[in-house]
Amino acid sequence: KTVPVLTIDGPSGSGKGTISRLVANRLGWHYLDSGALYRAVGLAAAWSQVDLSDAEHVAACAERTEIHFETGEGGAEPRVIVNGKDATHQLRMETAGAAASAIAALPAVREALLDKQRAFRQPPGLVADGRDMGTVIFPDARHKVFLTASAEERAERRYKQLKDKGVSVTLDGLLREILARDARDAERAVAPLRPAEDAVRIDTTGLPIDEVVARVLALLPER
Ligand code: C5P
Repeated sequence: KTVPVLTIDGPSGSGKGTISRLVANRLGWHYLDSGALYRAVGLAAAWSQVDLSDAEHVAACAERTEIHFETGEGGAEPRVIVNGKDATHQLRMETAGAAASAIAALPAVREALLDKQRAFRQPPGLVADGRDMGTVIFPDARHKVFLTASAEERAERRYKQLKDKGVSVTLDGLLREILARDARDAERAVAPLRPAEDAVRIDTTGLPIDEVVARVLALLPER
């Protein structure tokens, strides 16, 4: 019997990360933060001064980069160790997001990360969070969700998140970055951000977190 997968895709700030972690925790399933893999590769490439548009070298970097997640308690954000260094804080910065989005457009990089992502599918189940979890990485997933929220609300969430972490940003700057990243992610030729045909869409604008978690869990009748 195949290991069940719940994919949760959507744009940045749609609440994917928070919702996926909480749902994985409630189900007792593993959690894949695929965005963190792209961010880690972007960061590792920058560390070794690889040109982010150099597909061959960035893909080699993706193959080599060692990424470990140290799972947090009760759905807390895990620490992410990249090539032996704790990169948790750096990974959340907008610079890492922009680097991730740049290297994520390279087919060779996506290819290099394919097996790394599928390796997270372990019993009793996996919640996979990203952009192409339901379309490319786990097209056979039993359950697929596509989360959205207005760009303004997503910018506000990111703003709060970063401010809580002591990162200084402006709401306006974030909104512009989010819109630019959305456009890049939706328009790229490989694995563009789009809902799988069989995904259930949930608009999280104005919805409290526990309501979204409840709606996602309601999709898994066998629980
Ligand atoms: O979700 P997160 O904001 O951490 O993702 C960072 C970037 O990584 C995204 O903007 C996107 O370009 C890329 N990404 C991707 N495919 C995924 C996850 C993330 O292309 N499955």
